[in-house]
This record gives sequence, structure tokens and C-alpha cells, in this order.
Amino acid sequence: MSLHMHPVADPRAFRHALGQFPTGVCVVTCAPGGVPHGMTMSSFNTLSIDPPLVLFSIDRRALSLPEWERADAYAINVLAEGQTELSNRFANPRGRKWEGVDYHLGPQGAPVLPGVVASYECVPHACHDGGDHVLFVVRVSGYRTHPERRPLVFWQGRYMQLDPGRPEQPSWPLDIHY
Ligand SMILES: Cc1cc2nc3c(=O)[nH]c(=O)nc-3n(C[C@H](O)[C@H](O)[C@H](O)COP(=O)(O)O)c2cc1C
Repeated sequence: MSLHMHPVADPRAFRHALGQFPTGVCVVTCAPGGVPHGMTMSSFNTLSIDPPLVLFSIDRRALSLPEWERADAYAINVLAEGQTELSNRFANPRGRKWEGVDYHLGPQGAPVLPGVVASYECVPHACHDGGDHVLFVVRVSGYRTHPERRPLVFWQGRYMQLDPGRPEQPSWPLDIHY
């Protein structure tokens, strides 16, 4: 174990350090004016149960940021293992992200992808300054889940597979949670 505390001076090293936190991978979508947009994101997280809020953040350099700011609906598609091609496709700013992609529009009008582990349909709640990112807080209006599918995992800058091994007991929710 290293006892040395690194100062946050080198952005590359800091990014690398943050990559120690494993996440799932989402393709978040919107379709303002009927034109679909999608972006691969690992910044999705839960926020509030009541009201039902979740969050994600978008780099200020993202070409599509203005579309995200004017959208009135979003779908957060949680990718399953085996969907790395979709992840790479929606992370490529210069690619034709939607060419040949199968999807349907959810009730709020945002594209929902097939084969995903879960999709959460959301409407805007708040946008906040997040430094070089914009933090989107969105309200979930409906969702679908497929617990039989396994999620794609992202860790240390690489895609991984979840190996549940032997689930630990006790399982969620613990008594200490209110
Ligand atoms: C696994 C993974 C996670 C990512 N997470 C985010 C994220 O949370 N926020 C973000 O702004 N970009 C994230 N990106 C990068 C964007 O997907 C990529 O820059 C995207 O093409 C930007 O969209 P644009 O076409 O509008 O520029 C991620 C990329 C990968 C591969």
C-alpha cells in the first residue's frame, strides 16, 4: 500500500486515479426536435428516491452539449455485457452514431436501445456547474429492467465483465439503512 498522498496537479494522473472507481456504462439519449442524440457515459449515478432523481455529467467540449441542454426528455440505457460495440460507437464524436442502430422511442420521446440491462426514462430537473462538465439532474418518469442480463463494467479505462462469484450475505437493504 502506498502511503504517499499525491497532489492533484497532473490531470492525466488524476483521471487515472479516478478510474479506480468501477462503473457501469450507459448510452444516454435524447431527441430534441426529433433528431436522436446519444452519448456513452459512465457518470450516471443515483441521487434521490423521493423525488426520483438520477444524474449524469457531460463534458463542456461535447459537440452535442447544446442539444442536451434543450432536450425535454432523456433515456438512460444501461449497457449489457457484449454491448461494447455500442459503447464505442456512442463514444465516437466523429462517427455516424445512429447508422444501423435499432431503437424505439420511449413515451417521453427519447430513444430506448434493445438488449440493455435497464432503461430509465427521464425529464429535466436541474442543471448545475460541474467545472469542465455540466451536471444534469433528471427526474425518472418510468423504467424497464432486465435482471437476467449482466451489465457491462468499466474499470481502469477498460471494459470488464462482472463476476458475481458467490453473492455475499446479507444482501441489500441492510437494517442500518433507513
Ligand atoms: C466508457 C466511457 C464513458 C464515458 N463517460 C462520459 C461521461 O460520463 N460524460 C462525458 O461527457 N463523456 C463521456 N465519455 C466520452 C463521450 O462518450 C464521447 O466524448 C462522446 O462522443 C461525446 O459526444 P459528442 O459526439 O457530442 O462530442 C465516455 C466514454 C466512454 C468510452
